[in-house]
Amino acid sequence: MSTFKQGLEDIVAAPSSICFIDGAKGILSYRGIDIHELAEKSSFEEVCYLLWFGRLPRQRELDDLTETLARNRAVPSHILDMMKKFPLDANPMEVLRTVVSALSLYDPDAASGSREANLRKSYRLTGQVGTIVAAIDRIRQGKEPIHPDSSLKHAANFVYLLTGKKPGATAEKAFDVALILHADHEFNASTFAARVTAGTLSDIHSATTSALGTLKGPLHGGANQEVMKMLLEIGEPQRAKAYLKDALSQKKKISGFGHRVYHTEDPRATHLRQMSQNLCESSGNRKWFEISRIIEDTMKSEKNINANVDFYSATVYYTLGIPVDLFTPIFAVSRISGWTAHILEQLENNRLIRPRAEYTGPPYPAAYTPINAR
Ligand code: COA
Repeated sequence: MSTFKQGLEDIVAAPSSICFIDGAKGILSYRGIDIHELAEKSSFEEVCYLLWFGRLPRQRELDDLTETLARNRAVPSHILDMMKKFPLDANPMEVLRTVVSALSLYDPDAASGSREANLRKSYRLTGQVGTIVAAIDRIRQGKEPIHPDSSLKHAANFVYLLTGKKPGATAEKAFDVALILHADHEFNASTFAARVTAGTLSDIHSATTSALGTLKGPLHGGANQEVMKMLLEIGEPQRAKAYLKDALSQKKKISGFGHRVYHTEDPRATHLRQMSQNLCESSGNRKWFEISRIIEDTMKSEKNINANVDFYSATVYYTLGIPVDLFTPIFAVSRISGWTAHILEQLENNRLIRPRAEYTGPPYPAAYTPINAR
């Protein structure tokens, strides 16, 4: 048996045609199309088509998918009733994970694992996750969830459901780009968890529930919330450098920095840095960008470690008025597209994912001592 690599670093677990990353050059692409070009020219709906079907849609195909996603945003009333009974201070990621799991009980295709049924479930889940995340925030404030507006695109509809106001063009574009940048990332931990679950021929809601539980952790999607908590704790630019040096001297991991695959700048951070600067300046919150820059420069000079996707997404969401504990659920509003694309791909050529452990316990055969002799 081959020896193990801790954390499966650089282990190729399966072929995949969805996402290409070159960690040395800082390249990320969906189906070979560079993420910068997609962020500039595409939309979340078009990226969903690309991830699910392997190519860019023609106009009619894009219109059809946009309409289908908009039609699939409603969440069964039983689910909303259930959500109203949850503790008001519940962790939004735990609520989202619980609710996505419960959605399968009401899904019209729950009994079928055919590709057509799984595609319909992918549309529904992608439509519904945004509705659920917005409903979590409204319910805990004692407000009624808002009914989705099918005339709005995915990004604008989400902002509308969350705030009750239709966003202006700048906020809509910013949120749409954030959705594009977070949509997929090869075999990241949550996607891998989804594929492991799908690989047992379990259902798509179970695989998504696995993914959500995995995304929650602060080493993965939970990092964006930790970044904002750190920036708020620092509070003022003049405190940033000393704060960071002190944290590093205590050997703390700084959220929003470092990456298993990128050894240069995370290409998503390049976009989010610019967006963060624009939004911080236009909303009169320049200090959050200034603190972020000092932290980034100090991390580079002290440790030569780069910012990842979660570092600047924190201030992007914050200046869009999104509560900090919704940052990770919002990651899921986008990543559900990548998870479902990977689940569909796993099922196309499925084999159970079942690695081995390098055994480090007592040597075999160990003695079984009777209970009265222990
Ligand atoms: N802050 C401080 N030091 C860091 C660091 C960070 N964010 N990320 C990596 N390092 C250091 C480690 O201390 C280690 O140094 P050492 O060899 O002197 O012990 C080295 O870099 C390698 O780190 P390691 O944790 O082994 O890398 P990994 O590939 O296992 O982990 C992450 C990758 C992303 C989990 C890790 O960089 C991290 O914890 N980042 C913060 C959380 C985060 O932002 N997650 C979102 C990722 S998109």
